[in-house]
Amino acid sequence: MLDLTPQPFELDPVEMSPVEVIRDLQLHRLKWSLRHAYENVAHYRRAFDAAGVKPDDLTSLADLAKFPFTAKADLRANYPFGLFAVPREKVARIHASSGTTGKPTVVGYTARDIETWAELIGRSLRASGARRGMMLHNAYGYGLFTGGLGVHMGAERFGMTVVPISGGMTERQVQLIEDFKPDVITVTPSYCLSILDEFKRQGLDPRKTSLKVGIFGAEPWTNGMRTEIEAAFDMHAVDIYGLSEVMGPGVANECVESKDGLHIWEDHFYPEIIDPATGRVLPDGEKGELVFTSLTKEAMPVIRYRTRDLTRLLPGTARTLRRMEKVTGRTDDMMIVRGVNVFPTQIEELLLKTPGLSGHYQVVLTRANRLDEMEVLVEATPNATTHDARAAAAVLLGHHIKEVIGSSAKVTVLEPGGVERSQGKARRVVDKRALE
Ligand code: DLL
Repeated sequence: MLDLTPQPFELDPVEMSPVEVIRDLQLHRLKWSLRHAYENVAHYRRAFDAAGVKPDDLTSLADLAKFPFTAKADLRANYPFGLFAVPREKVARIHASSGTTGKPTVVGYTARDIETWAELIGRSLRASGARRGMMLHNAYGYGLFTGGLGVHMGAERFGMTVVPISGGMTERQVQLIEDFKPDVITVTPSYCLSILDEFKRQGLDPRKTSLKVGIFGAEPWTNGMRTEIEAAFDMHAVDIYGLSEVMGPGVANECVESKDGLHIWEDHFYPEIIDPATGRVLPDGEKGELVFTSLTKEAMPVIRYRTRDLTRLLPGTARTLRRMEKVTGRTDDMMIVRGVNVFPTQIEELLLKTPGLSGHYQVVLTRANRLDEMEVLVEATPNATTHDARAAAAVLLGHHIKEVIGSSAKVTVLEPGGVERSQGKARRVVDKRALE
């Protein structure tokens, strides 16, 4: 694979600033952000007053721990525009979550917020190995989801040629990759596997495409999946993280030269890790729930927003900005099966080590006689054709799950194409237990 390490002079100076300089900047911006939220959003004024804190009580970064958390429920309670800190006319763009589990969560951006977002996407693209003048095939969904438009405008501003294909029409994805010859693809890792299948179905060799880098995010994916995708396409696979409430894609990104976790763009977002049960702030290096406070957002500042994503903070490597470890899952994705905690990514890791199985999977939970049952739906690779090969793969994966995770699972090997597909975020868990 190509060496796409950016030259030091290409980076934003802040990416390599000494840690003390970054902390000073964060403290300065944090004071502004707390005040901005308190003075302009009724919800924050009430929440700070109830906790007995005022923006002026923050004199060091550690003082942030005195301030109340914000949760998804607060966004819902203030639906649609209650958390905006500027008059609605100053909001240049609105995005929203799909709202499959209740009211959608709505977020807003001023023109300056959009500028910042575009700048941070540019930084993320450059860290991934993209360059001005390259072509980007952007297969994140366009519309209210932040992935498509967020990446799009950042890539344009960065100076790339953008193909706004969005998700879906998988045959067309392959055709345009073959015909337009993009250098970079942005897509969810699960949908990338569907594109890969389509290449094979058409008898095309994905290793021969023009693609040099894939930038994957919007859902958890493992290092095992990275190895799989890099080998299949002969391209770099790097991780991009973000969430609508905090901005959208581009809150943190891996560097192509190190691929050792995602550098958080800490000049705009202040990260903390907390114990999800007690809310206590944990020291760097310990695993817990990621919490973000925006430092520069105008339209919708967020103070100590609980992401529900589980990770830990690590010191900088390729950049001086801190890293977050690859997200292993969300607190709400964690399955408790007969008392054992299981994350879909643990299954993914084992699946990718099992010969004869592809990377598509879904976990179905049911309850029989008051006992949880876990079924893992997987797919045979097209070359694992015999009944014996499939049965052996099922036994091996079941054995690995029992050994490593400590749960018994029924493994069902389906035909290629048998596992539910998504054009964006994959649905990894179907929990039918509440229905029974
Ligand atoms: O998924 C923003 C995004 C778009 C990120 C495109 C990257 C690429 P939401 O729809 O609000 O926003 O979902 C945010 O998705 O809290 C995580 O649980 C999950 N997520 C996002 N990126 C990653 C990642 C977008 N790289 C939620 N690894 C987050 C693991 C991720 N999980």
